[in-house]
Amino acid sequence: MQSRTPKDSRTILTDLVLPSETNPLNNLFGGELLARMDRAASIAARRHSRRIVVTASVNHVAFNKAIPLGSVVTVEAAVSRAFKSSMEIFIDIWIEDRESGQRSKANEAIYTFVAVDETGAPVNVPALEPETELEKKRFDAALRRKQLSLVLAGKMKPQDATELKALFVE
Ligand SMILES: CC(C)(COP(=O)(O)OP(=O)(O)OC[C@H]1O[C@@H](n2cnc3c(N)ncnc32)[C@H](O)[C@@H]1OP(=O)(O)O)[C@@H](O)C(=O)NCCC(=O)NCCS
Repeated sequence: MQSRTPKDSRTILTDLVLPSETNPLNNLFGGELLARMDRAASIAARRHSRRIVVTASVNHVAFNKAIPLGSVVTVEAAVSRAFKSSMEIFIDIWIEDRESGQRSKANEAIYTFVAVDETGAPVNVPALEPETELEKKRFDAALRRKQLSLVLAGKMKPQDATELKALFVE
């Protein structure tokens, strides 16, 4: 299988925040942002694997900044590392200043998708080759995030999470 780069899977969704998508403070409702991120991540995983993909886990979400009603929100997703059948997707959320048009980072998230066949059984995906410094940094840290996610899901024993343990020992 031919390897791919994060650029091959990069997916950009830009949309407005409408009144029906806000909380009582008139900011974007968290669940709406999660859904937008899931959609963008799903497309990125599909572009990388060219298979059916399912969300296996939401590993990390940071709602650092509220996103006000009327904002233009851009969800940018790309595969940050591919394992056997699973892919880590890194998602950056940007908002645009109405007057200057300048983009600022509002939030970020990390999802795991798994490529499956028509029966839902996991299938192998192409390897990922990071190119930029940021892509390499995200690639390098992805294994310990996978181990943490598996430990929290009860699918890996903490003592087997060698990469994760190294973080605390070194
Ligand atoms: C995701 C799913 C296919 C995994 O199936 P499984 O029987 O656990 O399969 P495996 O144990 O072989 O795991 C497959 C891969 O998923 C990874 N994985 C499974 N659970 C994970 C988790 N919580 N976090 C990170 N990776 C996970 C495994 O590490 C493995 O990765 P690898 O092949 O790259 O090494 C299965 O649990 C599923 O279909 N879940 C429902 C998905 C869904 O419907 N999502 C939408 C939610 S509404």
